[in-house]
Amino acid sequence: MLRARVALNPAAVVAPVSRRTFGSFVEHMGRCVYTGIYEPGHPLADEDGFRTDVLALARELGVTMVRYPGGNFVSGYRWEDGVGPREQRPRRRDLAWRSIETNEVGIDEFAKWAEKAEVEIMYAVNLGTRGVQEALDVHEYVNHPEGTALSEQRRANGAEKPYGIKLWCLGNELDGPWQTGHKTPEEYGLLAAGTARALRQAEPDLELVACGSSSSSMPTFGTWESTVLEHAYDLVDYVSCHAYYEEHDGDLGSFLASAVDMDFFVDSIVATADAVGARLKSTKKINLSFDEWNVWYLSRFQNAPLPEEWKVAPPVIEDQYNVADAVVVGNLLISLLRHSDRVTAACQAQLVNVIAPIMTEPGGPAWKQTIFHPFAKTAALAKGDVLRVHIDTPTYETAKYGAAPLVDAVATHDASTGDVTLFAVNRDVANPVEFSVDLSAFGAGLTVAEAWTLADDDVYAKNSKDAPERVVLRPIGEVPGGSVALDGSTATLTLPNVSWSAIRFTRA
Ligand code: AHR
Repeated sequence: MLRARVALNPAAVVAPVSRRTFGSFVEHMGRCVYTGIYEPGHPLADEDGFRTDVLALARELGVTMVRYPGGNFVSGYRWEDGVGPREQRPRRRDLAWRSIETNEVGIDEFAKWAEKAEVEIMYAVNLGTRGVQEALDVHEYVNHPEGTALSEQRRANGAEKPYGIKLWCLGNELDGPWQTGHKTPEEYGLLAAGTARALRQAEPDLELVACGSSSSSMPTFGTWESTVLEHAYDLVDYVSCHAYYEEHDGDLGSFLASAVDMDFFVDSIVATADAVGARLKSTKKINLSFDEWNVWYLSRFQNAPLPEEWKVAPPVIEDQYNVADAVVVGNLLISLLRHSDRVTAACQAQLVNVIAPIMTEPGGPAWKQTIFHPFAKTAALAKGDVLRVHIDTPTYETAKYGAAPLVDAVATHDASTGDVTLFAVNRDVANPVEFSVDLSAFGAGLTVAEAWTLADDDVYAKNSKDAPERVVLRPIGEVPGGSVALDGSTATLTLPNVSWSAIRFTRA
């Protein structure tokens, strides 16, 4: 039997769990908005045309914040097309996804949806085809209380109170040659600094996110952040990170170790930002907003050209997720949590239909993909402080990352309830691992309150409209090869091969 162990200690605090870790993303892309969150003719649509089944699932997922309206889409978007009387809104080409944007949904509708979903809005401005003035305009429209042209326009459109959006992305992936209005780090750094300065003149305490790298494999990874922050260090609060992972050519072992890359990404950009801060003799720290992350079978998309025909909301990148994908998503959340001292905002991309935990059929049902489950359980159970853990674990050889830890884990401790929760993955493709957890630092009296596992004999099993519960979380003891036992202050878990688990200990 493979064995790993960890000792948890309430004094080893990384940082409080940031609720913004559980962000998501709604882009005007494919069927995320139209027939995703919004489908007026649907039997379950509410008076505003929002699908109430999707709203209920978004709440169940535990999403706290949603980035909007893009993504690549935002780099060609004119926000003003999406406000005012619907029948007067223009139809436009969306060059990013080769689609027609009807503008039926704009910021006023999205703000209504966000209120119903009980999520904070993270708003991205267009710095691809636009600049400082348009960023100021949309800010005036959404956040200025009253008495100016654009705030009065908002009021006339039905929103008397400003939306009070605090968190703003200064463009999207402008390091990427695919991005409309792609820029050099020098050009973007100046534009981001100018936009940030202007937005702060309007509202000093906004939280501003400068674009970082679109992936750790970008040729400009690190140098992009360094140059951009040389210009914008004092003006922004965050630099963004984006990363998507997929299984390549049947290499499941490397895929299961995807969080190794996320750890590398975060550690590298923290070091890069701190180095710029040191050069500037600044005591300020720049945090990371990991505002696009997920499993995405990007190579399939890159090999399939976008449709010739310009259509409204065509299905785009509707990946169907399997058990292994869900284990990787759970592991990426572990990575985000362990970096809670510096990653204080994150968005899984995206929420509905487009590489999403929630799927819908137009006119039909909504269902949960496999990746829904680790996200929802982590959002529900990660409370209080994140604890620093050192895991004594065997490693395994991967083609992509060399020797990778077989077991990865993080823990949280909620001092208000006494709950200790452990999130753990076993990356071994074939064998269970016995994982011993020393809880003695918490004193006597802990019991197992709940223990959930996602695993399956078929690691490629998926959910679908017709079998929406093929893959769900199950109590660990009911999963073949899984178990939990508590003897005094030592818990012994058996983690099945290719599995993600969450175990909450509480006081009896
Ligand atoms: O989430 C899908 C796309 O991935 C986004 O539009 C873009 O920002 C990223 O490349």
